[in-house]
Amino acid sequence: MVANEARLWSSLGTMNGSVKKAVIPAAGLGTRFLPATKTVPKEMLPIVDKPIILYNIEECIRAGIEDVILVAGRGKSAIEDFFDTSYEVEDVLLKAGKTELLERVQSVKDKINIISIRQKEAKGLGHAVYIAQPVIGDEPFAVLLGDEIMIETEECKSAIGDLVDLTQKNGKSTVAVMPVEKADVSKYGIIECTEKSENLWEVSAVVEKPSLESAPSQLALPGRYVFGPEILSALRDTKPGKNGEIQLTDAMTQVAKSEGLLATVLKSRRFDAGDKFGYLQANIEMGLENAEVKEKLQHYLKQLASTL
Ligand code: UTP
Repeated sequence: MVANEARLWSSLGTMNGSVKKAVIPAAGLGTRFLPATKTVPKEMLPIVDKPIILYNIEECIRAGIEDVILVAGRGKSAIEDFFDTSYEVEDVLLKAGKTELLERVQSVKDKINIISIRQKEAKGLGHAVYIAQPVIGDEPFAVLLGDEIMIETEECKSAIGDLVDLTQKNGKSTVAVMPVEKADVSKYGIIECTEKSENLWEVSAVVEKPSLESAPSQLALPGRYVFGPEILSALRDTKPGKNGEIQLTDAMTQVAKSEGLLATVLKSRRFDAGDKFGYLQANIEMGLENAEVKEKLQHYLKQLASTL
């Protein structure tokens, strides 16, 4: 084992082999959802009856994460409020005997700590992760993009939990990738890589939203990462890159070249809820799994399809 690997491994070891902190950057401007996001953070938009952010928090809980560092920005206080006690609502539900709904409203509060940090200016995803450093300290940690939803499957209980397991097993920072169509490479961070073993790639560089001609592969980053603390030193030295933002992908290239970086395709279902089409897809698919509306929705979709 090389020295750098041993260092990450030992930092994992000091935590009894687990990752307990996750950063959820949610301070972006959400321009793709304007005008809705003028006053409502996109992370609070509902998928059926749950805000997007709650899917991510539940994914963290299933992975055994204890502290979530929520990076919020201006106009995002509704996200912070969501994780507070709502005495008025809870009292009304209690008095009305709506215990099931009350449990749903209270569900996450006691299972995870939410620590909120403000990104005063949207200087990029890399900057959003970097400002969580005082809370992260010198530990490995997870990052979940606040507008990406990963739904559990039989093979994958928690997307971020699977990455945590792989990071511990291999002693290297590990990120999720997904194959994308050629037409879509310019929307994502794309990895340059060599295959190490089945469904495990050794990353040599990450390119932010490349043109098709310059894309090193068709493996894109969908927004789930587990890093050792060295990503924070890389971010400290990262200058503004594409679009003048501090890019997480630039710091990932540094880590790939020094400590090493692995990538894997996760077995969860994914929705890009920060994009209009992905958001609608998530609502339809999750609606078809919701006991209250699924039959009506099925019927409606069949009827609608016959008219298209
Ligand atoms: P996006 O670029 O997808 O999100 O950033 P955005 O800026 O909110 O949305 P659009 O493109 O204008 O519609 C990916 C993630 O990084 C966070 C965003 O909140 C999102 O979860 N982010 C981005 C920050 O927290 N801070 C930033 O400065 C930039």
